[in-house]
Amino acid sequence: MADLDGIKVEKNYHLDREFSTHGDFHVKGAENLDWGMKKHLTNIFNPRSGNTVMFAFDHGYFMGSVSGLERLDLLVPRLIDHVDVLMATRGALRSSVRPDFRKGIALRVSSGSSMLDEDLSREIVAVDIEDAIRMNADCLAVQVFIGARGQLESIDNLSRVINAANRYSIPTLGVIAVGKDMERTDQYFKLSTRIVAELGAAIIKTYYCDNFEEVAAACPAPIVVAGGKKLPEKEALEMAWNSMRAGARGVDMGRNIFQSYHPVEMADAISKIVHEGFTACEAWDYFSDATKKT
Ligand code: 5RP
Repeated sequence: MADLDGIKVEKNYHLDREFSTHGDFHVKGAENLDWGMKKHLTNIFNPRSGNTVMFAFDHGYFMGSVSGLERLDLLVPRLIDHVDVLMATRGALRSSVRPDFRKGIALRVSSGSSMLDEDLSREIVAVDIEDAIRMNADCLAVQVFIGARGQLESIDNLSRVINAANRYSIPTLGVIAVGKDMERTDQYFKLSTRIVAELGAAIIKTYYCDNFEEVAAACPAPIVVAGGKKLPEKEALEMAWNSMRAGARGVDMGRNIFQSYHPVEMADAISKIVHEGFTACEAWDYFSDATKKT
């Protein structure tokens, strides 16, 4: 077909077509994984909705006692029954969370920076696979800095964790970091999420952006959306709703839950969107009614 020689095909994300190798397992891209991996992923993604609400309180690993997290021992027990997964450091879990809860654990295993650093993009693997297994982790979270100074080190960290975790059928969660002078564009997230998924991460965490549908379609692993800086609750619920409509398989919220004056009601409102298909308006009405009663 000489007339087509040299002409590059248009990009096509086939947004109208479900991910094709889904089979009957409820987590994108995990159909060919083994029993143990699928069990851990089921501890994270609810089989009924296929989605997850992660409560992130791992901020202390580089932010110290950020507002809202001053007393983990008092905060976390209030939220456990209202989320699906706890995303935390081993120090937070062991010191401040009783182990008699039945929720998923996303264990933060990378570390190395602090709020005193100019450049937060240099991390190491701080938790070894044996301690991750002791913590009964359902996935291991590694920060990845695509396009930043720490890119190669972070890809090395991610690869080492994936290699070790795969030996024990534990999924890895690749956390896409966005440097303060980086743009949250679909181009950047298409690149970074795809790189991390192709390196073998079973779950990707990133931020919402315009045209997120294409970011999600092009990523062969489920994406959960981080909340980012505290927003007014109504805006945070809109962001959660927009993310789910655009193909995210859940949210991983920290500050928009623990820095709310009503963290429990906020977690419940988010779960209504993620698991029950509430719109942002319906979830906001739910949140407003629930907080009137407190
Ligand atoms: C902090 C993290 C958090 O897990 C992630 O950013 C979600 O928290 P938030 O909703 O507050 O952004 O990776 O290092």
